[in-house]
Amino acid sequence: MCGIVGYIGKNNALPKLIKGLKRLEYRGYDSAGIAYFKNKEIILKKSVGRIANLEEKINLQDESFIGIGHTRWATHGKVVEENSHPHQVGNITLVHNGIIENYLPLKKELQEKGYSFKSETDTEVACAYLDYLLEKNKKMPFTEILKQAANTFIGSFAFVILVKGIDNQLFVLKRESPLVIGIGNKEFYVASDFQAYLEETKEYFILEDNDICQIENNALHLYREGKEIPYKTNILEDNISSPSLNNNKHYMLKEIKEQSVLISKWNKIYLEKGKELPDITKYKRIDIIACGTAYHAGLIGKYLIEKNTDFEVNVYVASEYRYQKVHLNKESLVIAISQSGETADTLSCVKLAKKNNAKTLGIINVYNSSIARICDEVIYTNAGIEVSVASTKAYTSQIYILSLLAQEFSQQKIDKNTYTTLPQKVEKLIEKDYTKIGRQLITKKDVFFLGRRIDYISMLEGSLKLKEITYIHSEAFPAGELKHGPISLIEEKTPVISLITDKTTALKTISNIKEVKARGAYVILIIKEGIVPTLDKTIYDEIITLPPSDDYTMPIISIIPLQLIAYYTALLKGVDIDKPRNLAKSVTVE
Ligand code: G6P
Repeated sequence: MCGIVGYIGKNNALPKLIKGLKRLEYRGYDSAGIAYFKNKEIILKKSVGRIANLEEKINLQDESFIGIGHTRWATHGKVVEENSHPHQVGNITLVHNGIIENYLPLKKELQEKGYSFKSETDTEVACAYLDYLLEKNKKMPFTEILKQAANTFIGSFAFVILVKGIDNQLFVLKRESPLVIGIGNKEFYVASDFQAYLEETKEYFILEDNDICQIENNALHLYREGKEIPYKTNILEDNISSPSLNNNKHYMLKEIKEQSVLISKWNKIYLEKGKELPDITKYKRIDIIACGTAYHAGLIGKYLIEKNTDFEVNVYVASEYRYQKVHLNKESLVIAISQSGETADTLSCVKLAKKNNAKTLGIINVYNSSIARICDEVIYTNAGIEVSVASTKAYTSQIYILSLLAQEFSQQKIDKNTYTTLPQKVEKLIEKDYTKIGRQLITKKDVFFLGRRIDYISMLEGSLKLKEITYIHSEAFPAGELKHGPISLIEEKTPVISLITDKTTALKTISNIKEVKARGAYVILIIKEGIVPTLDKTIYDEIITLPPSDDYTMPIISIIPLQLIAYYTALLKGVDIDKPRNLAKSVTVE
């Protein structure tokens, strides 16, 4: 999603802005731009595609001490320079993250007043509206104008603004879309997340909804509910540093490999040091809400909690839940799972839960993120910064936490030995060669994933990984559903990946595999060692054997080959693995 940066201070803003934008690249974008003051004029540079394209247009000899920058993930209008940010109308130049929902009536109103528009965006309308208010109220402080505009704008927004005529100040306004301000030595950094300026400062504060800031070289004025108030800063832990590839070709591979080391770290935290988890047994109803990969982790959580209890857990996609009838009260718990802690739909569900008096628990990776801040309780997943858009280590960290919660819920004694041996098992799977399978998949139009019960859930995630980064169409089906439609898609050499770790349904799935094999499918079988007494070798073309483990930890093992099959297929296809087309790491709009 869009990333915003801003800089004001004693150093040249241009390299700072470019660096910040590069640090936000992981969020996903399709164009970028910057604006800065030079001799009281505002210089604007934009470019579609990578930040490198933008850099080519910038004269780094130019010196400026105040500027703004943006990476755009298109929402309103095509990926063209006219639609990219910063936008400029009259005396206002700004960057925006979010969506102004009432931009069409506002646009009409402004057109009637003589404004014309170059882009298709809601942002240009917001820009024109601020210019209009400024023209109308020439003597009014600009912070007052921002307050008026905030009352008119409907939707989500984070704005960083330059005003022609006020060349020593930067203005900020935000609602719902995240924005942090880093505090340096006589300099301020504005960014959609603190990763943009981790190397510059560890001191920052997070803006609340409707906050307005007026930032000068060495002073920041924060206005909340119409009054100027002092701001309180936080200090990030020293060990949080900017991520690096460490000799890996891609962050995705690095993050997949990290999983074995991370499991040992989580074992230390939860099993050796015995960090306590919140008690979730006291609720009459549990709803889990999440998006994407985190939603799949939620489904695993439901499976594991229900496995040894009579309790029923509900799992919902956040973008649906926020608009549906909810059945919540003070005896309900809503668990929000999110890597970024910023996903707009998940955030809105937490707000909905609170409105309905339910308790909220976040299972979150990013410290102090928006969802983490509003939940009643938070379990941090401690997966470290995840850069690759396709989530891997955050997913296993979520399952790890849910597996512990599930065992506590059903008063099972956690088998520490199983967790202790997990890192080696994961490591061994990481070391395997997946390129032969990748070569089979790269030329295919469709890939199908089959599994039953918990294996079906893992296949949903395996299929998502493959389509996200290889652009090959893939779908996961419960193996038993095959005959009700999907089997008509099987042709000679259609790849079918099948996962069997669930003993109760293993033989049933094998029968389903035989059905696709009989129709010419190319079967890649991923199977838990020893799950069936004898395995008919004619039912598969490729086999990956998984080491045995219990049901709670098995989904952490079984996802590893699926992540790597997706990775190596994408590698062989030569696509941009860490930043797949059209996708964003942090989805801050609905
Ligand atoms: C995006 C990302 C996915 C992620 C989903 C939910 O779609 O590309 O990898 O699973 O958002 O994100 P969250 O940060 O809430 O886990």
